[in-house]
Amino acid sequence: MLGIGISRASFTGVALAMLATTGFAYAKDATMSHIQKAQFGHTPDGKAVEIYTLTNKGGLEARVMTYGATLVSLKAPDRSGHLADIVLGFDSLEPYVTGVPYYGATIGRYANRIANGRFTLDGVSYQLPKNDGPNSLHGGDKGFDKRVWTAQSVEAKNGPELKLTYVSADGEEGYPGQLTIHVTYQLRNDNALSIEYQATTTKPTPVNFTNHSYFNLSGDFNRDILHDVLMINADKFTPVNATLIPTGELRPVAGTPFDFRKPTVIGARINDDNEQLHYAHGYDDNWVLVKTHPNAMSTAAVLSDPETGRVVEVRTTEPGIQFYTGNFQDGKPAGKGSVYKYRTGLTLETQHFPDSPNQPSFPSTILRSGHPFVSHTEFIFRTEK
Ligand code: BGC
Repeated sequence: MLGIGISRASFTGVALAMLATTGFAYAKDATMSHIQKAQFGHTPDGKAVEIYTLTNKGGLEARVMTYGATLVSLKAPDRSGHLADIVLGFDSLEPYVTGVPYYGATIGRYANRIANGRFTLDGVSYQLPKNDGPNSLHGGDKGFDKRVWTAQSVEAKNGPELKLTYVSADGEEGYPGQLTIHVTYQLRNDNALSIEYQATTTKPTPVNFTNHSYFNLSGDFNRDILHDVLMINADKFTPVNATLIPTGELRPVAGTPFDFRKPTVIGARINDDNEQLHYAHGYDDNWVLVKTHPNAMSTAAVLSDPETGRVVEVRTTEPGIQFYTGNFQDGKPAGKGSVYKYRTGLTLETQHFPDSPNQPSFPSTILRSGHPFVSHTEFIFRTEK
């Protein structure tokens, strides 16, 4: 367990020698990784929220707060080594508490939509809050993104690590079973942000967790994401109806604007005359990832920004990924000195398929007691010329 302030997770010999002679570890020293903790504010009901800054040996920096186990900022270098924040978010707690667009948050108990907020499990019907038209979205009125988690920083050789825990009560937001969830962020020294989810339950319950970061690899939040280039390792996707619930079909991407098997400019087909694009005002679908076996850790997507050379590869053990182009961003509220306009950020949410509790042909999302849940996603950062 690391302390507050200049705690450190790993050193090189050089850094150790420096520490011995000066007795002080420079926060910006590129040879060491560390975690710092600070206060970020209070929720309206008076709960203190902390923010942790994780810095790896290469100088990459991730800030994670205990409200929503949320990634608040992530600094990564461009092709000339210039660090910039590449995830949308806010400088203070208030917009996270009063707004609803899930910037950087951990989503649960069920990421994405459940049709009519209803499902039946082992013969019992459950009703969830309908917070998105007729459906339940991202865990209901007060999902995991709006809860204060506890945090523990962990010493790890390959980069600073923060383990966040939340205990969701039996019946919370209509879901059965007390669920204990741990989300561990690690900013690895090989420039990957790893996010691991572990959960246990006291009763059978549907679960689906993701991270809802909006990426803008340019680091300039006044630019949209339409010029970025995306590859998605999927030859099928799950088309939706007008309320964005999957129809159950696994539709081939070939010959559609959903074919990202080869790296493609995001804006190239986003305004095509296509029913699916009309429903969501842009991309907002789940792609069925190509896997050698169901829980294999494999590449889901690669996103690159030709202007800055920044690249992120997303790898996951999950079967699906939601690619969403910020279609409901409307310029409010403003964050980090910018106004988040239409399509200023995009999400790559690794997940099980939306509405799985009502779709018997989709991979199961039911967690049972005695069977711990584990899921792992990593975002690997590099640059290209
Ligand atoms: C969903 C969108 C939704 C957005 C909210 C995404 O995960 O796919 O439909 O509007 O979250 O921020």
